[in-house]
Amino acid sequence: MDKLVIKGGNRLVGSIKVGGAKNSALPLLAATILAGGESSLTNVPDLKDIETFAELLRHIGCKVNYEAQKKSISVDASEIDSFDAPYELVKTMRAAILVLGPLVARFNKARVSLPGGCAIGERPVDLHIKGLELMGADVTIEHGYITVVADKLRGTRIYLDTPTVTGTENLMLAAVFAEGESTIENAALEPEVLELAEALSSMGAEISGAGTDIIKIQGVKELKPLAHNVMADRIEAGTLMVAAAMTKGDVLIEDCPFEHLDALTAKLGEAGATITEEEDGVRIKGDWPIRSVDIKTNPYPGFPTDMQAQMTAIMSIAGGLSVITETIFENRFMHVGELKRMGADIVVDGRNAIVRGVKGLSGAPLMATDLRASASLVLAGLVADGTTEISRIYHLDRGYERLEEKLAALGADIKRTKQ
Ligand code: EPU
Repeated sequence: MDKLVIKGGNRLVGSIKVGGAKNSALPLLAATILAGGESSLTNVPDLKDIETFAELLRHIGCKVNYEAQKKSISVDASEIDSFDAPYELVKTMRAAILVLGPLVARFNKARVSLPGGCAIGERPVDLHIKGLELMGADVTIEHGYITVVADKLRGTRIYLDTPTVTGTENLMLAAVFAEGESTIENAALEPEVLELAEALSSMGAEISGAGTDIIKIQGVKELKPLAHNVMADRIEAGTLMVAAAMTKGDVLIEDCPFEHLDALTAKLGEAGATITEEEDGVRIKGDWPIRSVDIKTNPYPGFPTDMQAQMTAIMSIAGGLSVITETIFENRFMHVGELKRMGADIVVDGRNAIVRGVKGLSGAPLMATDLRASASLVLAGLVADGTTEISRIYHLDRGYERLEEKLAALGADIKRTKQ
């Protein structure tokens, strides 16, 4: 197993390019199931989750060629002959649930392992299931699997009790061939949902309203294969921004999806960072002392839960008191215990973390617990006094493309070693 060894104290300076968005690439890969023939995606990040999704597509009969070095993947979905997503794959990547919608849309059946709870919360998929039932599918849950059978999905009105991101995506994918019009109300507004809608439209789907809370899908008879360039990862960009701010750095982030980062850049600005849009990207300069700011996570365009752990790390060395409220997932403070081992002063009370900024953190051996928590530990390691060793970084590798190489290119003293 790999671990990261970081010697803290270096200021990050230079320019760095952001990779393709994991949370866009995964639903786009699911969309390739909808059309016979060969689909292709470019700017695909080189990540464990993409490999796992490719494995899942192969399992159902697709021919997949993932060239991680070239950041491209092609999927030929002409001969799908299996309709199930097994437990072994779903347990390592919950986004596997995204094959449910397209399989039912094209083949009227699917069997997908019910994802369990995970490190950040219970994460039910009841709204994905409710939507399919409203469209006329028969859903049974047995032996840990969701089995869906439909004669033909029918367009209908689906109101989501909460604007679930993958739920909105799954139901959009399911509705493309449904008879008549489907309406998804209280839909998620995340940029990844809009990108999926645009990609589906380029395949011939009739979708309007994506990016607003009411999405309408008019069923069509068939789609053509997808050819799409994946947008830049807003969470990777955001994580690099926090790294620059925390180390008093001066970093130009190329291919930065600035327009998707308003909530984060507002908060980093309040905390004292200077963020400017330049011709080649977005420049972020850190300034000390970092000011404490309160953070409350919310669905897009609110502050992203996927940036909460990283903000907890920066607030741990800010000059005051910060209240961080997590409203999306009930258990997303796993990083706090590890940050405290580095000397952070944080109290978790239900959905709030009360962070009293300390003068400095000290390097320590740490354990990564989930994807974004791991990123926050890396950030803390960059400013800590002495050496920080982070184990179980397979969590980090699920969603960050060799983060250590990007940080090292900016001047960080960070290395991957074998345990
Ligand atoms: N929820 C329900 N019922 C459902 C679905 C969701 O109650 O059927 C609740 C969840 O329990 C949660 C809230 O709705 O409280 C929002 O969850 P959502 O479904 O939006 O999350 P998700 O689609 O499972 C995606 C990202 C996550 C990101 C969240 C929130 C992908 C593949 N994953 O998850 O990304 O945190 O949206 O923005 O797009 C990550 O990249 O680290 C990550 C966890």
